[in-house]
Parts: sequence; structure tokens; C-alpha cells
Amino acid sequence: MVSVPRAMLASGGGALLTTMLFAQPPDSAGSKSSKFPEGPGKAALLKVCSDCHGPESAVAQFKTREEWSKTLDEMAANGAQGTDEEWNQILEYVDKNYSLILVNKSDPKRLAHQLDVPESTAEAIVKYREEHGRIASLDDLKTIPTLDAAKLEAMKDRFVF
Ligand code: HEC
Repeated sequence: MVSVPRAMLASGGGALLTTMLFAQPPDSAGSKSSKFPEGPGKAALLKVCSDCHGPESAVAQFKTREEWSKTLDEMAANGAQGTDEEWNQILEYVDKNYSLILVNKSDPKRLAHQLDVPESTAEAIVKYREEHGRIASLDDLKTIPTLDAAKLEAMKDRFVF
């Protein structure tokens, strides 16, 4: 959800609100693919997931890796076609960019991929869990020294504690 300051909802804020919510990048001709983060698997996703409902709705929600894996199986059953390599790349791509991150359960390798950090950084999370128990919140996570708080904040909707 986009949270909007209350005052802006009063009359007069409507136009501004519309601009905020529907502003398009200047290159809107290319916007269909430009909203997708660069990386391995992007091309495969745009190719395999665009035919029936458009790639935006393919990634409209965050899911755990296991849920993504299941969704991909379902899409193959629906008729989506890709090579084995493309399916693997798509799974890694959605896991990296559109997954729910199980902060207290995942191993360092998975966390490193999903947080886009080196594995040694992700190991600090596991060490923290071992020393302090469950990580209860984003604020807890931010106290782990090697993690970038701003980057974590930007991903806040993806964490499951
Ligand atoms: C051959 C057509 C087709 C292609 C190609 C396709 N889908 Fe779908 N997709 C569907 C249909 C039909 C539905 C709605 C029914 C359903 O959920 O199976 C759907 C629904 C979805 C949903 C919402 C339902 C859910 O399970 O969350 C997601 C997410 C999704 N697709 C992701 C993808 C991804 C990712 C790809 C590329 C790997 C893809 N789709 C490619 C046909 C397709």
C-alpha cells in the first residue's frame, strides 16, 4: 500500500495524488520491461510470462520461493512454454526480486541471493539468530552491523519474521 498523508486527501490534493500514483517514467514506450530489475532471468521472464496476462501481473505479489516454484509449475500446466534453462532462470529471478524472505528460517545462501548481499554478510544474520534468538522485526534486522539499513527499508514488504 502507498500511504498518503491525510491532508493530501482533502479537496485539492486529488490532482497531486493522481500524479503520485500514476506517474510514468519518461520512456513509457519502454516502461513495460524497464520496471523489471536487471539481472539473469529477466529476459526469460519477459519471454515466457508475457503471453497470457502480461509480465506485470506475473509478479504482482510476493511469494516464498516454494510458492513461486509451485506457481511456475502451474503456469507450465496452463501452457507457458520455456526451456529448462529458462524455467530455472525465472525461478532464480523471482526468488531474488519478488520473494518473501523468511528471515528466521532461511540459510545463508538463500538469504544472500534474496537480499543481494555476499554470503558472508548473510551469515551474520544466522549468527545473530544463534546468539539472540528470533529476529522479531525490521528494526532488529537493521541492528546487524554489516547490513545496509536503507536497502533493508526499501525491501521491507518482503520480510517475514
Ligand atoms: C499460457 C498462458 C500463461 C502463461 C504463458 C503464463 N501464465 Fe500465469 N496465469 C495464467 C492463467 C490462466 C492464470 C489464472 C489462473 C491460474 O491461477 O492458474 C494465471 C495466473 C497467474 C498468477 C496469479 C495466480 C497465482 O498463482 O498467484 C501468477 C502469479 C502468474 N500467473 C505468474 C506467471 C508467471 C511467473 C509466468 C511465466 C513463467 C506466467 N504466469 C505465464 C496463464 C499463463
